[in-house]
Amino acid sequence: MSFLRQLGDTGLEVSALGLGSVKFGRNTGVKYPSTFKIPDDDAVLAILSQARELGINFIDTAPAYGNSEERIGALLNKRQDWIISTKVGEEFIDGESYFDFSAKHTQLSIERSLQRLNTDYLDMVLIHSDGQDEKILLESDCVEALKKSKDAGLIRAIGMSTKTIAGGILATDLLDIVMLTYNLEQQDQEVVDSARQKNKGILVKKGLMSGHVNKEGEDLVRESMNLIFSQPAISSMIVGTINPEHLAHNVKLAKGFLQADF
Ligand SMILES: NC(=O)c1ccc[n+]([C@@H]2O[C@H](COP(=O)([O-])OP(=O)(O)OC[C@H]3O[C@@H](n4cnc5c(N)ncnc54)[C@H](OP(=O)(O)O)[C@@H]3O)[C@@H](O)[C@H]2O)c1
Repeated sequence: MSFLRQLGDTGLEVSALGLGSVKFGRNTGVKYPSTFKIPDDDAVLAILSQARELGINFIDTAPAYGNSEERIGALLNKRQDWIISTKVGEEFIDGESYFDFSAKHTQLSIERSLQRLNTDYLDMVLIHSDGQDEKILLESDCVEALKKSKDAGLIRAIGMSTKTIAGGILATDLLDIVMLTYNLEQQDQEVVDSARQKNKGILVKKGLMSGHVNKEGEDLVRESMNLIFSQPAISSMIVGTINPEHLAHNVKLAKGFLQADF
């Protein structure tokens, strides 16, 4: 099986492992097991080049990840070789999250992401949920604003990073992609099933439980990937890492599970 996979019916092809970029720009208000220093430009460049060489073509970012978008915009070599996903709705300012799902903010956020990421199109824009998935989808005009930008050719596909089962299922009715939690502790299985039935794109976040994988004597990274890659409808597991050894190990394991040679 190829390491590159179709993302639902979006026409996008993403690598089975995506690169999460929270740690490129934010180290406060996060749930990782240990504190860390934000990597310098050389280290981010090295991770990006290593990821690309290993066959990863997909990077996930967000305005709420500190200066992650700007850094990717400045450091990503050959933008056209990458599928970039970013988000709308959440802002992280002075250590606190604020949410705005209005059409006006959505549009401004998209324009700002285009600028920061130094590009004239975004492959995916996902709604960054505050936990009230259904309310956002049904009562705000965020979805309409995303559709407008998609129609204008600024975005190729739209989706939502969901936090509830009902919201996730609704997102599979209204949007192209869902990003959901699927790990050893929590599996949003009903959302996976709903997306699969509708041929919508499925992305996994927090697949390694945000790094809480160090249980003595157990290889929880392997177990996590075994769980995720046994679901063929999941197109990509987005793993956040700034550690080159972890990146190499993760790709090797993923390719092993998929028996992929690319
Ligand atoms: N939209 C949302 O609401 C949302 C929420 C959360 C995440 N996300 C997206 O999904 C991505 C992934 O989620 P996440 O970063 O929370 O969690 P994750 O990918 O489950 O875990 C990332 C953590 O795992 C560690 N790690 C990676 N490979 C490892 C290995 N082989 N052995 C041991 N530890 C390893 C990383 O540390 P090292 O740096 O040391 O490798 C990092 O601290 C994010 O970067 C983001 O792009 C989206």
